[in-house]
Amino acid sequence: MIPSKIKAIIKKYHLVGFALSVAFNLSRLVGFIRFPSYNLYFRRLMNAARAGYWSPRLGKMGKGVQIDSGVIIRGNPKNIEIGDYSYIDTNVQLEVYAPIKIGKHVHITSNVHIQSGDEVIIGDYACITNGAKIYASSNTYKAPDGREKDVLLSMSSSAPPELQYIEYGPVIIEEYAFVGLNCVVLPGVRIGRGAVIGAGSVVTRDIPPYTIAVGIPARPVKNRVIPKSEAKE
Ligand SMILES: CC(C)(COP(=O)(O)OP(=O)(O)OC[C@H]1O[C@@H](n2cnc3c(N)ncnc32)[C@H](O)[C@@H]1OP(=O)(O)O)[C@@H](O)C(=O)NCCC(=O)NCCS
Repeated sequence: MIPSKIKAIIKKYHLVGFALSVAFNLSRLVGFIRFPSYNLYFRRLMNAARAGYWSPRLGKMGKGVQIDSGVIIRGNPKNIEIGDYSYIDTNVQLEVYAPIKIGKHVHITSNVHIQSGDEVIIGDYACITNGAKIYASSNTYKAPDGREKDVLLSMSSSAPPELQYIEYGPVIIEEYAFVGLNCVVLPGVRIGRGAVIGAGSVVTRDIPPYTIAVGIPARPVKNRVIPKSEAKE
């Protein structure tokens, strides 16, 4: 028998939970509706409301953060840190198994997918653009103990553990770096400060700072101008 006081508390919190889920689903829906002139302000308001919802649930959230509609966070949100004035745009998916640290004034644009099997660090003023995928762990076909000589390893995460090997590696995207549309960034890669990764590239190795890198695999093809303000003291 559940005491009536506890029953009342459960009822109350179910109602609060239900009201919140209706409010947030409405806000998600409304986020897609175009309002003629004040849409931007309305959207910002809803983004701030969503940030308010997530703030106590994340490890750390700075001021002025916006979280747009359709953002999905799987895993442990406490592993996420977002710096001041960063913007997590529509339909971003964060699969959080290790820390994801996003600096300040970062824009993670729509439909980006970040998986932190290992740590993912995104520096201040960086931008990750639409459709990019950043993975800090991945199933692979070979294992350090040479198991692949005895059995065919499966790259399905639903296979039994003895048939799988997963490699892990932190992904570090330094300050001011840019990751173009639909790029793929693989585990263990560092993209240097101010580097620009062209649209559709696959980053398999470190990219030096201030370079423009394109292609599959992404390779530096030119350097960007390094302004005087970047000179080290
Ligand atoms: C890389 C990029 C920034 C161009 O930089 P740029 O300094 O103007 O470079 P260029 O156009 O001179 O290109 C240099 C070479 O790289 C090639 N290249 C440029 N972008 C490329 C890409 N995404 N993939 C493969 N090759 C590319 C060019 O064809 C050129 O090759 P070539 O010398 O053999 O002709 C641009 O092409 C790009 O991909 N921008 C990202 C756009 C984006 O994702 N925007 C998101 C919304 S903001």
